[in-house]
Amino acid sequence: MALAALLALAGGARAADAARPVYLDPGQPVEARVADLLSRLTLDEKLALVHADSKFTTAALPRLGIPPRWMSDGPHGVREDVGPDTFVPAARTDDFSTYLPVAIALAATWNPDAARAYGDVIGDEARKRGKDIMLGPGVNIMRTPLNGRNFEFLGEDPFLAARLAVSYIRAVQAHDVAACIKHFAANNQETQRGTIDVEMDERTLREIYLPAFEAAVKEAHVWAVMGAYNELRGQHCCHNDYLLNQVLKGEWGFPGLVMSDWNGVHDTREAVFNGLDLEMGTNKPYAEYYLARPFRDGLGQGVYPLAALDEKVRRNLRVMIATHVLDGRPEGAINTAAHQAAARRVAEESIVLLKNAGATLPLDPSQLTSIAVIGENAVKLQAHSGGSSTLKAFYEVSPLEGILRRVGDRVNVTYSPGYRKDAAAELVGRAVAAAKAADVAVVICGLNHDGFDREGADRRDLKLPYGQDGLIQRVAAANPRTIVVLVSGSPVEMEAWIDRVPAVVEAWYGGMEGGNALAGVLFGDVNPSGKLPCTFPRRLEDTPTYAGGAPVFPGVNGAEHYEEGLLVGYRWYDTKAIEPLFPFGFGLSYTTFAYSNLRLVPGTDASGPVVTVQFDLANTGPRAGAEVAQVYVHQASPGLPRPAQELKGFQKISLPPGERQTISIPLDARAFAFYDPARHGWVAEQGTFTIQVGGSSRDLRLQGDFPLPRTIVEPAAAKD
Ligand code: BGC
Repeated sequence: MALAALLALAGGARAADAARPVYLDPGQPVEARVADLLSRLTLDEKLALVHADSKFTTAALPRLGIPPRWMSDGPHGVREDVGPDTFVPAARTDDFSTYLPVAIALAATWNPDAARAYGDVIGDEARKRGKDIMLGPGVNIMRTPLNGRNFEFLGEDPFLAARLAVSYIRAVQAHDVAACIKHFAANNQETQRGTIDVEMDERTLREIYLPAFEAAVKEAHVWAVMGAYNELRGQHCCHNDYLLNQVLKGEWGFPGLVMSDWNGVHDTREAVFNGLDLEMGTNKPYAEYYLARPFRDGLGQGVYPLAALDEKVRRNLRVMIATHVLDGRPEGAINTAAHQAAARRVAEESIVLLKNAGATLPLDPSQLTSIAVIGENAVKLQAHSGGSSTLKAFYEVSPLEGILRRVGDRVNVTYSPGYRKDAAAELVGRAVAAAKAADVAVVICGLNHDGFDREGADRRDLKLPYGQDGLIQRVAAANPRTIVVLVSGSPVEMEAWIDRVPAVVEAWYGGMEGGNALAGVLFGDVNPSGKLPCTFPRRLEDTPTYAGGAPVFPGVNGAEHYEEGLLVGYRWYDTKAIEPLFPFGFGLSYTTFAYSNLRLVPGTDASGPVVTVQFDLANTGPRAGAEVAQVYVHQASPGLPRPAQELKGFQKISLPPGERQTISIPLDARAFAFYDPARHGWVAEQGTFTIQVGGSSRDLRLQGDFPLPRTIVEPAAAKD
């Protein structure tokens, strides 16, 4: 090409650049693009950006090349499409997705790298499915094992939940998809979830219910936060001045958007002034949403300042531009081999071996001629139920299918349901006969999403439904080699049979590869490495919210008082010296680990780690395996009362048999701190702290004292 022609081309490109508005120029800073786009919007275009125009979208602005924004549930995969104006499935054929193990299972991996792999699948599939904002992760703390949505969340400990949420969010957002952490805050039950007014003290809020959100904002830079349905201190969380304006945006400096939960908005004035940026799911025509016509009317009458609308729009545009909605994004992919492998890996790592007397597990197929598989959960598919987290899985390998695939036709596998809703007694009889005739009985039971682990209702008790206790007792009496596999999203009572069976496995809802993962553990291809992210109590009466009665849970006259305060999960059992059935952090392996040589290496600077916890971990058993080493901190004489111990560090370490590794886990000032409402900040007091390291909250093998040389105060409003 002639030089003149080339120059003309270059000139043309420059002219095009000059003509290109700033907001469409990826080379410009995000804030400049936001300001430019905001300046071009009419009042109605601005309003269109702060409320929905279908169940899961906001309107496109074609004049400016702004596409509709698509949101989708949910925490463990990209939900099937619904609507547009109803939750009834859209009956498409292109909206299948990878069904990952549910969030409580992810928590049981205790592995931030598993959370990264999980978020990576969700981000990739969200892009392929054309989604801009994914409604997860859910990080509401398991205050009571009765909460119907525990399966969607990350367990009872704020530190564990925070570490996993941060990895998950970073991985989702690496795909130019905004993650939306939910539900902010104190949404810890389904009973009266839309109206219950939660009262709790400030320390409890800061130390238990907010840290996962705080870490998501400060460390993972999450782009969206969903308000909770409930009220906190008399104000709905979707427009709660304290939570949204003061804490989230004020103290933590959150730059992204706050969206409501679906139908969680109740008042225009509060929605305008109290920190909400996007209204979703209101049960009204879209034009009548609180942030639609009523907002417009108020703006026209001068009741609301235009600056309030502009601020909301700015936040919506910031998320859009920062996630490159206007620049062209990765196309994404669904159901790839890598996604299937991630689903399987997370499932394998999540399975918790609770009991294994006499090395009943793993089973050796070459030593077996027959296995009696019993229980409805052996064949029940779980993806498509439970509430908003449901999805259309590409496939779902059931536990029975996983076992059949693993043992092929070398072993005679029989199946009998044993129980079912309204089961007839003959189901039990047939299962018992099958168990008697087989070398091994595997009872695959637990809960399901039909009436237990599901959105919209809490459980009434912790009992296994459908007469399963009796079934397990009878099967165990018929065959001493009875293995119980629990499929559930929250703890169940086991007193009726735990002493009568040699082996128990918690398999959670393991996603579409769950059956393969379970078979891997049962037959020893996979050495179990999951640890409980929540305490399994002996009985409901032992749980933190039980003693206080209805005013503490589930509330009376529309209000509920978190009187157990900080004593949630193991903080309760350990401080009150109540023996759980299985403690927080517990999980067996087919190998054994030895801990030795604890060293507490002090740091020098309050801004860096205060102390590094070093120790040696050795695999002393016959097989390769992974251990989750956990670090708990106890303060000898705190200025304010504290729980007996708190998790402040952990690491999952894979070791070949016979190998030893030195592990270093850094603890910063926050690891020693409590929240002091009087000082409005985190205080790590000078004095002695006991640091314990081990394989569960009740299996602490190493202990050392660390003298914190001086008091460190971190104001709540400090930016990281
Ligand atoms: C749930 C949210 C969910 C939303 C949209 C609500 O009922 O609480 O978690 O994201 O519905 O489906």
